Amino acid sequence: MISRRIGEDILRIFRQAHASFVSGEELSRELGVTRAAVWKQITQLRQLGYVIEAFPSKGYRLAASPDALIPSEIRAGLETQIVGRDIVFFDEADSTNLRARELGDGMAPEGMVVIADSQHAGKGRMGRTWVSPPGVNLYATILLRPPILPFDAPQLTFLSAVAVAQAVEDVTPLTPQLKWPNDILVNGMKVAGLLNEMDAEIDKVRYVLLGIGVNINMEHTQFPDRLRYPATSLSIQSGTQVSRLKFVRSLLMHLDLLYDSYLKGGFSSIRGLWEKYCALVGHSVEVDFNDHVARGIYEGIDSDGALLLRTTGGLERILAGDVRPL
Ligand code: BTN
Repeated sequence: MISRRIGEDILRIFRQAHASFVSGEELSRELGVTRAAVWKQITQLRQLGYVIEAFPSKGYRLAASPDALIPSEIRAGLETQIVGRDIVFFDEADSTNLRARELGDGMAPEGMVVIADSQHAGKGRMGRTWVSPPGVNLYATILLRPPILPFDAPQLTFLSAVAVAQAVEDVTPLTPQLKWPNDILVNGMKVAGLLNEMDAEIDKVRYVLLGIGVNINMEHTQFPDRLRYPATSLSIQSGTQVSRLKFVRSLLMHLDLLYDSYLKGGFSSIRGLWEKYCALVGHSVEVDFNDHVARGIYEGIDSDGALLLRTTGGLERILAGDVRPL
């Protein structure tokens, strides 16, 4: 596992220089390190895909940046109150949820975002693994410390689902749909999944972890042969590469706004938005749960996030299961 804060300060200096040359001497003076240390950081940035020109007489110039999820790049232009207060980046992690849990058990501030370029033990729901190759997708966990009862924490899953849908709308021409309880679909195929976890006492949430995995630029060949649900990526569906940086900035901004309205107004505002993105509300569906199948009209979700199904026997509340259109 490699933690990266590499080159953050150099990138800031290059950004301030607006594509002009900065001498090695200036870099070493501003960073307070030797010329050799500057050179080492330049080499590391190049390995990450940054194109840095070097001329002995002029110094260094940043000619092009990769679509890398480096915290300083994400922060540039990010206007949020809580979400993104701290951004921690791992080149490779076991799972961002595990890393965030470790930091959450310490002093990590509310709003901390943990991002990995790849995960070797990415966690999906129900003990499944989440395929997490490098360089193409987003694997992020956001740590929140909401003043709510543990009982209400599942409401935040719906908040993160709406934020992902809004980010998909912002940065692609695609129409996202939400599938209860926590899948994000495009054209009926899964593009993103959510794995929310929490740490709580009996009457107090210590922290909630919003684990978000989005297939952004993953190609057909990178998906495993057999998946429980047909999966796709934003680039496959839109036919064009999607900027991971733009996506993550948009996601964090929407999460921040939604979290603010959740703290001020409770779950009802989020619930309405979630139902707007859930194409199946009002339609006939069947739901697999507890080893049986129920059929009825999908009426939406209640204040606990339970699915409401109008059957011939009355209104059923379903807490976990799988929904299909009829
Ligand atoms: C699902 O099964 O649909 C949920 C997948 C959640 C994957 C994300 S990727 C970032 C975060 N870290 C993990 O290990 N899992 C979640």
